[in-house]
Amino acid sequence: MSQGKIVGGFVAPHPPHLVYGENPPQNEARSEGGWEPLRWAYERARKSLEEMKPDVLLVHSPHWQTLVGHHFLGVPHLEGKSVDPIFSNLFRYKFSLDVDVELAEACCQEAAAMGLTTKMMRNPKFRVDYGTITTLHMIRPQWDIPIVGISANNSPYYLSVDEGVEQMDTLGVATRKAIEKSGKRAVLLASNTFSHWHFHEEPDVPEDMSREHPQSYEGYKWDMKMIELMRQGNLKEVMRLFPEWVEEAFAEVKSGAFPWMLSAMGYPEIPAELHGYGTVIGTGNAVMEWNLEKAEARDAAVA
Ligand SMILES: [Fe+2]
Repeated sequence: MSQGKIVGGFVAPHPPHLVYGENPPQNEARSEGGWEPLRWAYERARKSLEEMKPDVLLVHSPHWQTLVGHHFLGVPHLEGKSVDPIFSNLFRYKFSLDVDVELAEACCQEAAAMGLTTKMMRNPKFRVDYGTITTLHMIRPQWDIPIVGISANNSPYYLSVDEGVEQMDTLGVATRKAIEKSGKRAVLLASNTFSHWHFHEEPDVPEDMSREHPQSYEGYKWDMKMIELMRQGNLKEVMRLFPEWVEEAFAEVKSGAFPWMLSAMGYPEIPAELHGYGTVIGTGNAVMEWNLEKAEARDAAVA
């Protein structure tokens, strides 16, 4: 068996509004559209994902919260209805997904061996959170690639941000080791919004885009600064500024998916591709790609 590898990673945010705007058959709520620039950003990301030909998608979601340890979906097939607890008017989604339990168990074991508290989730009736589902639906609406679902332990919220990031760094290394041993081609999905300042009232027509804009200019400026650094491939500076970004933009990356993904990819100093940016109820959302295999091929051509 050849060595497995991470072929790429995406920042793939999960506002349920994006699924609502798409009107897929799985979602009960109907819309007139809305949030098109972000939905079109996902369309571009889908094309890249298709070219990456992954065997498995790994997603870390802030909305599967497990206060004791890092948990992994551990049931081969899960289905049911997922409802957003806040936006139940927009997101009531019938999901049906296949889990790569073998890889999930390997990630779980590697992380435990590195000192993290971990657990496999074995409840066959488990209702998968809307963050995991929205990210997966938006990046691969066909649902034809097995997934590994990872919970948010949320350690940065009750430890210091630095300690929390350190834990996510370890989880990232463990994830990479498990993928390499698996022989599979994997794509990582960090299900995070950036600036998370948001409005507290919804327009009568939720998809009325005349009401959509950044809630906070400070949050917007932080997002642009960080996206520009990512586009330059300057992840050292991104991680140096990470605690300040989290603090001042109330950034959802605090929940761990983003540092987990960067660590798993080895903090690649390659320019990230921005597929698009847009706000959802005022929060800042970017769809971004790190294509490790393409960067490798470029390096090989130059050498
Ligand atoms: Fe969220």
